[in-house]
Amino acid sequence: MDERGIALRKAGEAKPFRLEAAPLKQPARELGIARACGAQPGVRLLDATAGWGADGLTLARLGCAATLVECSPRAFPLLEDLAQRSSLSARVHLGDARTHMADGFDVIYLDPMFEPHPKRALPGKALQVLRDIAGEAPATPIDLLALARRHARSRVVLKRRARSRPLVAPHWQIKGRTVRFDVYLPT
Ligand SMILES: C[S@@+](CC[C@H](N)C(=O)[O-])C[C@H]1O[C@@H](n2cnc3c(N)ncnc32)[C@H](O)[C@@H]1O
Repeated sequence: MDERGIALRKAGEAKPFRLEAAPLKQPARELGIARACGAQPGVRLLDATAGWGADGLTLARLGCAATLVECSPRAFPLLEDLAQRSSLSARVHLGDARTHMADGFDVIYLDPMFEPHPKRALPGKALQVLRDIAGEAPATPIDLLALARRHARSRVVLKRRARSRPLVAPHWQIKGRTVRFDVYLPT
């Protein structure tokens, strides 16, 4: 921890990994996620797989009343630190997001870790670090999706690789160059 915030340093590596606020300012990325989530002031949104908060904090900046939940105790301190530095009013919690799903959210946003792709380049540094430290997820993406659809008031949004098959047939899709948002109505 220093004046720039919390950093993670892998044993044996000199350069620490830091979360910067830069990913929050990418207009192209915002468009798809904003449309998929129907982001606007007042929307109560749960980011159930918060990771480094790039998606959840983007949605908070677009006006959503966002709650971000991350289950990895190693990733969480960096997320919490970034959320504080971003001066957005997002709430962040450490734990399994399934325990928050019944708390009356309009939108539940899911971005479970993509399965490794044999032919594709490694993901960006931030996601590589997250993959290294996050450990096994407490629930499968299918289970998260089913539970989220039981509790969300308006919709559930699941982020997927652009060309991957949907986990379950979605009601509609927002397609980007590398990722796609599958949107589901509540059950
Ligand atoms: C692909 S990352 C999310 C990246 C994130 N959207 C971002 O913008 O940085 C998936 C994260 O979800 C977390 N996760 C998976 N299942 C979870 C659960 N049931 N509750 C809370 N966090 C979960 C993992 O630990 C991992 O950090």
